[in-house]
Amino acid sequence: MPESSFIKMDAKERDYIQYLFGKHISWGQVRYLRCAHLDIYERNRKGCKVVDAVSGRKFFDCFSSAGCFNVGRGNQQIMETLRDALDEYDIGSHQILSEHKIRFASKLAGLCPGDLNRVVLCASGADACAGAIKLAMGVTGRTEVITMEKAYHGHEGFSLSANGKDYYKELFLPLMPGFRIVHFNDLEAVKKIASKNTAAIVLEPVQGEGGIHVATQEYMTGLRKLCDELGIMLIFDEVQTGFGRTGKMWGMEHYGLLPDIIFTAKSISGGVYPNGAVVFREIDPLVKYVEENPAFHTSHSGGSDIGCVVSSSVLDFLVENKVWENAAKVGKRFKDGLMEIGKENPDVVLEVRGIGLMIGIEYKYEFIGALMADCLARLGVWAVYSGNAPQVMRFQIPITAGMEDVEELLARIRAAMKSMRIYLIFLLPLARIPIFRMILDNLKVQIATFNIVRDIEEFVFGRLLRR
Ligand SMILES: Cc1ncc(COP(=O)(O)O)c(C=O)c1O
Repeated sequence: MPESSFIKMDAKERDYIQYLFGKHISWGQVRYLRCAHLDIYERNRKGCKVVDAVSGRKFFDCFSSAGCFNVGRGNQQIMETLRDALDEYDIGSHQILSEHKIRFASKLAGLCPGDLNRVVLCASGADACAGAIKLAMGVTGRTEVITMEKAYHGHEGFSLSANGKDYYKELFLPLMPGFRIVHFNDLEAVKKIASKNTAAIVLEPVQGEGGIHVATQEYMTGLRKLCDELGIMLIFDEVQTGFGRTGKMWGMEHYGLLPDIIFTAKSISGGVYPNGAVVFREIDPLVKYVEENPAFHTSHSGGSDIGCVVSSSVLDFLVENKVWENAAKVGKRFKDGLMEIGKENPDVVLEVRGIGLMIGIEYKYEFIGALMADCLARLGVWAVYSGNAPQVMRFQIPITAGMEDVEELLARIRAAMKSMRIYLIFLLPLARIPIFRMILDNLKVQIATFNIVRDIEEFVFGRLLRR
């Protein structure tokens, strides 16, 4: 998008949109974003950055809508494909043969290792998760599923049942029966509950929302062996780890083994047209089950024609540019830089971890996640803490990022860490007292306090500016 097309928004218009957003969607969301100076309105979405329509400030997008923008914001090649597709196609009829669907499905299968060759097209990550679990249950005739603590697979039926955070599920219990949760990377815990009633073990090779935990080789090898012994389907959620994010095309490639089923979504959309897929091995009984039950999982929008045209173009872009190699190279520098920052701030940073451009900083206290998000936003970095692990801040910049982007980002993170020190003079001693730590870590307290600070700031600076 040319700079000239930047459409500025004045504070009055912003306030009105916030008012409408609160009235018709959620006040909670407005307050949540506003308190961390993240009530920005994205303009000029390009590469790793977006411009806030109100302040005109450039923001680094370290959130990438939880891993949707591997190919970069506003990728021109993909946008062009979408524009052309819109001239000719619509979503298509989901029951009918389509060259767009098959072109995408065969490209996707071609990029998966081994005999992961068969594809079920889906509408989203949660939808694909449901498809994968239903396939495992259908094939095995079993009803138990093992998933991981802090895992995130989506917010609907099957995927919510597989979610590793109680908070999301409590209101809707009992959800799907037969779901058991174990500690991530704990093979013995899985062995204790896995049996011939278990249909599937589901996990992310690197937990995203769970706080960037990388599965160990020993864990993965152990799970594969256990699944082979008990006839369990091993399912990898590649929604965030797929399409180059971890420095290889797929997260699974780090382990030299094949799951039976994977599911994916998000970045396959190119950030412009949602799509998703389940990919499973070309072996019986999987193939036989799907041939006998072709409609076991279907929706009108999963694998739409336009979506598949866009997704094919995304795969072309990834392959032509070997974007995963960039993620590995740039990710290494980024991680090293974050580790240096960690060493400079040992009282704040517990650990830096991750692979490729899926990296997280674990802070010593939960409240630092929220405080740092605010300090970063003030310096034009949009980063959030993990939904299922608030003490871990995720950095998932588009994997098209260059070294110069990373250096600039590191400088801003270092500066934010410095500015956070002013608050920490008071907060760190308080955090050592359990009752105060509980208060500091409480999300409601954080939102209320930060919003009051924001109100005061706007009142004072508003008056100064009006002088
Ligand atoms: C690892 C993982 N799996 C599944 C999902 C669900 O994807 P969707 O939001 O498309 O339903 C997400 C979304 O954040 C995710 O991060």
